[in-house]
Amino acid sequence: MGLFGLEKLRFGHSQNGGGNGAGKILNVKKNIKNSGLSSVFAKKPRREAVFEIKSPNGRLVATFMLDKGQICYFVKKDEQVIVRRSKLGIAVKDDRPMTDDFGLIRAYSKSIDETWEAYWGEQRVIRNHYNETAIYLEETGKPNRLLTLRFRVFDDGVAFRYEVPVQNAMDKMIVADELTEFTVDVNGQSWSIPAYQPDRYEYDYTNKRVHELHESVHTPLTIQCPTGHYISLHEAALYNYGSMTLKLDGASLRSDITPLADGMRAYVELPFSTPWRVIMVGNSAVDLVVNRMLLNLNEPPRDDFSWVSPTKFLGIWWAMYVGEWTWAPGERHGATTEHAKQYIDACAKLGIPALLIEGWNDGWEGDWLENGRYNKFTEATPDFDMRAVANYARENGVEIVGHHETVGFIDNYEEQIEDAYAFLRERGVRYIKSGYAGSKMMINGQREFHHSQLGVLHYQYALELAAEYQIMLDVHEPIKGTGIERTWPNLMTREGARGQEYEGGALVPSHACFLPFTRLLAGGMDYTSGIFDVGNFSKRIASTIVRQLAYYVTIYSSMQMAADRPQLYLENFPDLFAFIRDVPVRWEKTVPLLGEIGRSFVVARQAWQGDEWYVGGVTNEEGRKVELYLDFIEPRMDYVATIYRDSEDAHYRDHQLGYVIEERIVRRGDRIELYMAPGGGFAIKLKKEKT
Ligand code: NOJ
Ligand code: CA
Repeated sequence: MGLFGLEKLRFGHSQNGGGNGAGKILNVKKNIKNSGLSSVFAKKPRREAVFEIKSPNGRLVATFMLDKGQICYFVKKDEQVIVRRSKLGIAVKDDRPMTDDFGLIRAYSKSIDETWEAYWGEQRVIRNHYNETAIYLEETGKPNRLLTLRFRVFDDGVAFRYEVPVQNAMDKMIVADELTEFTVDVNGQSWSIPAYQPDRYEYDYTNKRVHELHESVHTPLTIQCPTGHYISLHEAALYNYGSMTLKLDGASLRSDITPLADGMRAYVELPFSTPWRVIMVGNSAVDLVVNRMLLNLNEPPRDDFSWVSPTKFLGIWWAMYVGEWTWAPGERHGATTEHAKQYIDACAKLGIPALLIEGWNDGWEGDWLENGRYNKFTEATPDFDMRAVANYARENGVEIVGHHETVGFIDNYEEQIEDAYAFLRERGVRYIKSGYAGSKMMINGQREFHHSQLGVLHYQYALELAAEYQIMLDVHEPIKGTGIERTWPNLMTREGARGQEYEGGALVPSHACFLPFTRLLAGGMDYTSGIFDVGNFSKRIASTIVRQLAYYVTIYSSMQMAADRPQLYLENFPDLFAFIRDVPVRWEKTVPLLGEIGRSFVVARQAWQGDEWYVGGVTNEEGRKVELYLDFIEPRMDYVATIYRDSEDAHYRDHQLGYVIEERIVRRGDRIELYMAPGGGFAIKLKKEKT
């Protein structure tokens, strides 16, 4: 097989841009210099060289070395080694690996300091501040291939990528392997989920020493180094290439790029750049939470995306999980016109702007995982009229979130995708939740990993086409986040980890205390929060009811679901629901207050261009007291704090409904003491008192 000529990116990707309105660069300072190295005219390129690339504050240093032709690097923070000398390289099919026979041609450095405004996210205005060095290399022996290594060093991390320019020796390349090492101290503690498993990213986190990582794990891979530093290894701008997993190779972690069915990692035409290899570096675990390297390493959008709007949604969804309704047509079919209208009425009453409808289209009968190959995305079941539902929604000021469950049958989906998007758009539907259930995808008649180059190309194609149709996506069973939502802000959110669909014993309370330091470093997640029927026998969930509110603050998503059935919100717990109604879906600023990986996480966030603040906290299986210092709110102002907290006797196993709601007047500098029950949490809304 070969991928050449199968280019599915209709509009290209990651071009320079800087569209109109939000997403634009607000100001830039650039300083570009030629490092003045051996000239292009030198007869023999030098096989020895050292470049130190320092962060703007000088404390983090990446050193690139050319050592007798071998390319390698190491990283130090405050003179302490974070990544020991590690080899770099690419193994090319049917040729020598590009790793140890290079000479230096030249190098360029530049400094960038710019700020830009996001369309949505955890932080509205973002500073992109780094020093860059690009090192141009040529093999000293035949076939004299050219390779560029580009390093960017930020105050909070190091990124580098391989660039293979157009050259005489080759115009395309089959990547057999990528030889990037990350030689961190093997005694470091790591938190990871396994790669190449049937449920993709939907696993519990395990805590292992780095020297135990014999099997490939997904990134972000977060590690506490023996020096005390916290790092997370990941990638940015993953396009047209297999996704990077990591595993131990000797004493180093090494890139293991998700292979295609034929074992190759990528088929690329030149010029080509790999995704950025990213090492986020923090002094504490919560430092990682505010690392914005991924977004900064992606390009600004090319077009205007001001049509994109974050939202909250109810769903014809959880009723299926608890067995009241079904996805498939029949007596208990969930997605009927009648149910949809009832749920739209509920959205209007609850102040929730959108409604997800799953199971509306043809394809859910029988063994849906197997029959997914025949799913039709433009044909509704006989008891569902999408036009009537969408019209009714519009009359009530509600939007519909359509649903495309592809079951990974990409060949079937891509045949229909344009018509499927057009079908929904013609009916006024602007949001789609897509799904890729199944352990592998079916692409070009072959089984492929979701995270292989062909999978990556499909997700990108679906996203770019969605942008053309002005459709916003919530992707389940996705490719992991690598910051591309900066360039494609219609990629609203993803699943890509275990979410609450696993509840019923399969999820442990610590899971939500791992996510902020691992999966969520890669971007927002649709965790399907807001389940109030916590004690339901058929789908019992490992959480107190108050913790369900905390998730809206601790787990960022620009599309947040209120996942339970609306009657619980309307009839049983309108007092708690008020928080879900009020909580924003994009933030001006994010201030993590405390956190220990797998144990607890507390974060404060300021409303987008607003002065309200929200605080959320979660704990693992252990109950704990926390002290919050309100030093983030404006000084000399009274705030009304509405506090939703666990009662002293609450417990995720047998007393989920123990909760207290109280109001206090607070000021900057005040201290609030709170108790989180085992498997519990809290949520606080802080609103300025009117004077
Ligand atoms: C898995 C998704 O995560 C879930 O939200 C969805 O309901 C099912 N697939 C069916 O599409
Ligand atoms: Ca899922």
